[in-house]
Amino acid sequence: MSISIISAIGKNNEIGKKNGLLWDLPLDMKHFRETTSGHTIIMGQKTFESIGRPLPNRRNIVLTLDKNYLRHGVDVVYSVEELEELLRTSPQPSPSQGEGEEIFVIGGGMVYKLFIEKADKLYITHVNAEFSDADTYFPIIDENIWQKVKSEKHPKDESNKYDLEFAEYIKKVS
Ligand SMILES: NC(=O)c1ccc[n+]([C@@H]2O[C@H](COP(=O)([O-])OP(=O)(O)OC[C@H]3O[C@@H](n4cnc5c(N)ncnc54)[C@H](OP(=O)(O)O)[C@@H]3O)[C@@H](O)[C@H]2O)c1
Repeated sequence: MSISIISAIGKNNEIGKKNGLLWDLPLDMKHFRETTSGHTIIMGQKTFESIGRPLPNRRNIVLTLDKNYLRHGVDVVYSVEELEELLRTSPQPSPSQGEGEEIFVIGGGMVYKLFIEKADKLYITHVNAEFSDADTYFPIIDENIWQKVKSEKHPKDESNKYDLEFAEYIKKVS
């Protein structure tokens, strides 16, 4: 099993405001859907509530400290340790994935911080703009730790207001 993080971040690592996103970028939504479909996704309670429903074709796991938290179509865990136990003991979404299964941490700010040191890979959409009204941020991507191994650039267009870069980072061998 490997842990990947997926996020879209502004030039100052901005990811959200008022429990919502800072942009409307259909191209990034498509990239997110294609990258995570068929896999397990892990998110904080706030991100789940901001999406408002389980994402289809994925196993949805929500982290919360609230022992009364129950939502249809999601597994709920109360700590990272409990999450790790659940992943070890329960079946993966697709039998073909087995031990090589890639698990995706999809946000938000608090949960990215919890997992960035445990992650094996980062899928980062760099949004080429600054958002002064942001209130939630992605952790600093330390260039001593993370090596960019893929970069796909998309200029802005009618539907996507900002230039985007789909980047992938893996941990440098120390
Ligand atoms: N740009 C992107 O790619 C992207 C992706 C995802 C989200 N976002 C944005 O990020 C913002 C939300 O991020 P956020 O930092 O406010 O919240 P979050 O990380 O989505 O969720 C935080 C919640 O997770 C639970 N939690 C955190 N650490 C935990 C732990 N160790 N054990 C158990 N539960 C734990 C707590 O839930 P309880 O309070 O219930 O205990 C906490 O309040 C929104 O604006 C959203 O739109 C952006």
